[in-house]
Amino acid sequence: MKILMVCLGNICRSPLAEGILQSKLSDDFTVDSAGTINMHEGKSPDHRAVSIADKYNIDISEQQSRPFSASDFEKYDKIYCMDRNNLKDVLSLAKTDEDRNKVALFLENAEVPDPYWGDMKDFDEVFQLLETASERVAKDLKSRVKSKESHV
Ligand code: 4NP
Repeated sequence: MKILMVCLGNICRSPLAEGILQSKLSDDFTVDSAGTINMHEGKSPDHRAVSIADKYNIDISEQQSRPFSASDFEKYDKIYCMDRNNLKDVLSLAKTDEDRNKVALFLENAEVPDPYWGDMKDFDEVFQLLETASERVAKDLKSRVKSKESHV
C-alpha cells in the first residue's frame, strides 16, 4: 500500500508526516510526500523540521522536496493533505471519482497549521498533531489491509 502526504512546500509538514507515519508502519507500506508548489524542489526539509523529528528519534534528513503531479493519482492508494488549500489544489488535478476518493485531510476535519513562518514551538505543536493523526491513520490502514487479506 502506498501513501502520499501533501503540503505546500514539501519542506515542513508533509516531510514530518511522512517520517512519523512510516515509523508506525512496516515496509509493506510506502509513505512519500510532495508539495503543491515546486519552489523548493530538490531541497532537504527545513532544518527546524529535521531538528524536531530528530528530537523524537525520526530521521527525515534524507528526504528531498518534489512537486505533486497528476500522475501521483496512479501511484498512490491514499493521498493525505495537510490543509484545505492543499486539498483544493490536489483535487483540481483529479480526473475521476477514483482519484477524488483517494484524497483526504490528514486531520479529518482540521488543518495542520503551517509552521514555516513560526518558531520551534510551532514545529513541536505540528509534530504532536501529526503524531496523534499518524497513530489513528496507521491503525486504520493496517485494519484495511487485514480486511482485504481476509476477503481473498
Ligand atoms: P510546508 O511549509 O508547506 O509545510 O512545507 C511551507 C514551506 C515553504 C513555504 C510556505 C510553507 N514558502 O512560502 O516557501
